[in-house]
Amino acid sequence: MQNIFIPSHPILAHNLSLLRDKNTPREIFLNAFQRASSLLVQEGFQFIPLKEEEIETPLTKMQAKKIDESYTYIIAPILRAGLAFLETAVSLLPMAHVLHVGMYRDEETKNPVWYYDKTPTLFPNKTKVFILDPMLATGGSAIATINLFKNKGVQEEDIIFISLLSAPEGINAIQKEFPKVKIITGSIDNHLNDKAYIVPGLGDAGDRLFNSLIP
Ligand code: PRP
Ligand code: URA
Repeated sequence: MQNIFIPSHPILAHNLSLLRDKNTPREIFLNAFQRASSLLVQEGFQFIPLKEEEIETPLTKMQAKKIDESYTYIIAPILRAGLAFLETAVSLLPMAHVLHVGMYRDEETKNPVWYYDKTPTLFPNKTKVFILDPMLATGGSAIATINLFKNKGVQEEDIIFISLLSAPEGINAIQKEFPKVKIITGSIDNHLNDKAYIVPGLGDAGDRLFNSLIP
């Protein structure tokens, strides 16, 4: 499929399995998330443009590749669960601007409900946006976020959506509306259940990442 990237990597496969297993202890779950998300973020960052610059090694001058800083780089984690990708992403691309996007899925309608958006009114012409969210289910949250950036001047082909797991429904919804957006994902799972959860999936990513359910 065009513009869908699923890294084939044994470390990713192994850690995705740890994340899916409901019996994985919390500490191992958190470590597995960091390992898996790091591989996915690295896959997404393949779309960072490079430029050549002359540098001098101790031996000679050479033309060296460096990140093209004539672009503005945005890392946009979708709250809450997208936060778990953030540390890895910022450590690899420290010059990026982090713009948090806050929304949750209404349990009845499954539509995203916005609660936080501090993005500027317009982005510069040359802007690359990396949207981070572990779960792509119906695609509602992803589509709302992509629209936010597109409506403020970011080109569709400059938007990269990075997720851990996806449902075919969410992939199809993004591709139908935004065929030029690149989607990086660890797996395209089987289907959504009647609560719009990804099956087999890993359950509620935010709840598991933040251990937020108090028995
Ligand atoms: C989850 C997930 C995505 C969204 C995906 O967030 O992190 O943002 O659901 O579903 P969709 O593709 O159907 O829109 P949730 O709304 O549960 O909020 P949370 O991260 O605060 O738990
Ligand atoms: N959000 C999650 O956290 N998990 C799903 O399976 C779907 C949406």
